[in-house]
Amino acid sequence: MTDKTLKQALWVPRPVEETLQIYADWANTYDKDVLEAGYATPHRIAQALAQFAGPDALVLDFGCGTGLSGMALQNQGLVHVDGMDISAEMLDIAYSRQIYRDLWQATPGEMTNVEKGIYSAIVATGVISLGAAPPETLSLCLSCLDPGGLMALSFNDPTIEDGSYDAALTAVIDAGIAKVVFREHGPHLPGKDMGSDVIVLEKL
Ligand SMILES: C[S@@+](CC[C@H](N)C(=O)[O-])C[C@H]1O[C@@H](n2cnc3c(N)ncnc32)[C@H](O)[C@@H]1O
Repeated sequence: MTDKTLKQALWVPRPVEETLQIYADWANTYDKDVLEAGYATPHRIAQALAQFAGPDALVLDFGCGTGLSGMALQNQGLVHVDGMDISAEMLDIAYSRQIYRDLWQATPGEMTNVEKGIYSAIVATGVISLGAAPPETLSLCLSCLDPGGLMALSFNDPTIEDGSYDAALTAVIDAGIAKVVFREHGPHLPGKDMGSDVIVLEKL
């Protein structure tokens, strides 16, 4: 994908069928494209989460894609990680990495196979964002955590500018569902001059 098509195709709201097609078409070159652009958010999220979660934590990598987020978690000592994604093509590459305890394809808008309270942390790296899962996905993920559970996610710059994802975050904070324990802006895809906020929430 060129920079122009990335910006036009990726960071915009669109129907889930189009999201599935984009990731089906992109899966084989996704790692090369984002790593060449210096993809920094997986490491930043894993580092932030490791400040709050110990090595025994069972983590769900929600929207794990090809597994770059799972690899970053492993590198921070968070080794008990399951992954789920809606894209079979992205998952094929994640399977080949053999880093996940369990890995499965989810139905969009559902927490397929996820029992409430099983995970001590849910990570969504670049997933609850413009062009991927919609803002209401935040409440969906939080509903699967017990009190004290952690949710680590990122909003890239276009997502922050859009405002609807921060509105969903404010709604869960105002409703007393979760509190923000960490939020920091930093590099996302520095090669594309894009940053992101890394956010860690604690379920109340
Ligand atoms: C930008 S990629 C990030 C992948 C991986 N987390 C990473 O950091 O490389 C976004 C991923 O979110 C997945 N996705 C989009 N909508 C989703 C949804 N509603 N539920 C779960 N995953 C979703 C896509 O299939 C894609 O793999």
